[in-house]
Amino acid sequence: MVGSGDVGATWALIAAAGSGERLGMDRPKAFAALGGRPLLAESIDRLDRSEVVDAIVVAAPPGWEEPSILLAEELAASKVVACVTGGATRAESVAAALAEVPEAALVIMVHDAARPLLDEAHLERLLVPLAEGYDGAVPVVPVADTLKRVRDGAVVETVDREGLVAAQTPQAFLAATLRRAFAGDVDGATDCAGLVERAGGRVAVVEGDARLLKVTTPADLALVESWL
Ligand code: C5P
Repeated sequence: MVGSGDVGATWALIAAAGSGERLGMDRPKAFAALGGRPLLAESIDRLDRSEVVDAIVVAAPPGWEEPSILLAEELAASKVVACVTGGATRAESVAAALAEVPEAALVIMVHDAARPLLDEAHLERLLVPLAEGYDGAVPVVPVADTLKRVRDGAVVETVDREGLVAAQTPQAFLAATLRRAFAGDVDGATDCAGLVERAGGRVAVVEGDARLLKVTTPADLALVESWL
């Protein structure tokens, strides 16, 4: 336990347990250096300072729980109430963090540590559809490139881009809905909204942001650093 345990209505889960192999570093992606501190520091700091977030749970890479706790302490992030060991997939990591959220929580936000540049406007935007009766909300951006399905190095088809968008995080859900979605099979889920949709939930889209770029390669890291 890191923080004072200020249990409130809105919880934020940070999925930070990925290995980040494509970054080619000697440490997990969440601990790659960004502007002189670990990538994970941005998400912890920004969620901790948010007016809409009451408590935070971090899903840390296996073996990196202690450094994650120390990081939260260094940042004086008092809303971080737990740091759990992540799982083999993103969905398993989120499930481990979700297990720490008390029944009293009303809204759960889930964020990728790999998208460090979230701000208050992103979080506030997500709450609007929830107040209007949706089960969840995801930020999306238009797909700029032409999309092709390929097999064995050759194009099978060009996918109609009409109506296609790219989903980002943070995503927000009614707590009960997210729990129900995670009660089932989580295999193959690359985001939480996908699980909520699969469970029959209604997920609204809100405006995403190019700056919510997911850091995958060293070039992404350099780009995000230039935006800091
Ligand atoms: O691998 P990718 O960057 O797509 O992962 C998205 C987010 O999910 C990252 O923030 C990563 O740390 C997290 N993740 C996780 N547990 C895993 C795999 C990914 O928390 N086993």
